[in-house]
Amino acid sequence: MKQDARANAAISILDNFLVGQNLNSVLSRWAKNNRYAGSSDRESIRNIVFDILRVKKTLTSVLEKEKQPINGRALVFLYSVFYALNLNEIFTGQEYGPKELTDFEKEFSKISKENIKGCFGITDNIPDFLIAEFKRSLGRKFKDAMRLLEKRAPISIRVNPLKSDISSTLKYLSLEGIEGKKSKIVRYGIDIIGNPRRLTKIQAFKEGCFEVQDLHSQKIIEDLPLNDHTKVLDYCAGAGGKILSIACALKGKGKFYIHDIDEGKLKEADLRAKRAGVKFIRLESKNLQKHCCSFDYIIADVPCSGSGAWRRNPQQKWRITPESLNEILTRQTVILDEAKDLLKRNGFIFYITCSLLKIENEEVINKFLMENKHFRLFNKKNVTIDNFGDGFFCAVLQKKN
Ligand SMILES: C[S@@+](CC[C@H](N)C(=O)[O-])C[C@H]1O[C@@H](n2cnc3c(N)ncnc32)[C@H](O)[C@@H]1O
Repeated sequence: MKQDARANAAISILDNFLVGQNLNSVLSRWAKNNRYAGSSDRESIRNIVFDILRVKKTLTSVLEKEKQPINGRALVFLYSVFYALNLNEIFTGQEYGPKELTDFEKEFSKISKENIKGCFGITDNIPDFLIAEFKRSLGRKFKDAMRLLEKRAPISIRVNPLKSDISSTLKYLSLEGIEGKKSKIVRYGIDIIGNPRRLTKIQAFKEGCFEVQDLHSQKIIEDLPLNDHTKVLDYCAGAGGKILSIACALKGKGKFYIHDIDEGKLKEADLRAKRAGVKFIRLESKNLQKHCCSFDYIIADVPCSGSGAWRRNPQQKWRITPESLNEILTRQTVILDEAKDLLKRNGFIFYITCSLLKIENEEVINKFLMENKHFRLFNKKNVTIDNFGDGFFCAVLQKKN
């Protein structure tokens, strides 16, 4: 696909997003209906859409000031001006491209790139209702976090010690044309510098030698107090990322149970376990009580705003509302309440979020500890979003003897 056709696709995808459709469904539908598009086309279109959504508030504030409609075309136009792309190659008016530039767009595009750039970095690209909570939570780190949320997230992998090691994986990646560098912050991590798109296509991935995982997510797990030959439950396992890291770190020595309110999500966890050479045991909700007071560790990687990872999933930040956040906060408390009775004495709950907000982190924990005097805070950690990874919070809660 030429640049104009890709831009046209991004315009229609953004139009669907702006009327409230789920971005992932829109992207999948687009791929299904346009089978001629190759994987590099799909990636490029997705990148345009995601780059735009990361700074949507900045772009829409320019459009509001200019009294222009907010739609896919206007967003792609401003994005193209900002990145000094050749507008004549994008707005071609040809069969597969967007219509030619309007008079307003021609006039506007005469403004120098620097002027447009001046508009960026002024707006905080997060929902208005969360600005105060972000400032309260991040203090002096607020501005840095705002700028980081406008950029693409770094890509990294976790090497599986059951199947490989760092140096063999680096060599293998290099043979596959993927450039990587050993991470300085975690034991099994590799920063991916070039060609990340191939990662999940190569044999080493299919054989379970590594998983794609954020370095800070790895860091949170690496710092947990873990012993092998223990009974571990991931209460909100979803695709199983956290328990997989733990099972691999313990070299498969232990019993690893997975549970999720949405059992359909566990399919992916099962596939990943098989690839990695570890075993997960599914635990259905109706059988939870049979395991009362039996787990050494319970991972509660709860649903959250996702604010620490909005770079990867920018639609999430424009969909969250005060009501949906309240619902999430209730869920976090309910999950801790449900999980606590399944834990052994002296056992640990690992409460984890990928949120930057105190309201979902420290405050949920403080409330839990106030109401559950038989628990104590063993330790807690905030790993802030930076150029190496996303923002995470982890509190280790111990059940007293
Ligand atoms: C942040 S995701 C978990 C991601 C996963 N741990 C990973 O690393 O891949 C949160 C999960 O919690 C699940 N969930 C939500 N409410 C729940 C509840 N009341 N009990 C159990 N799981 C719940 C969701 O279905 C979702 O899969």
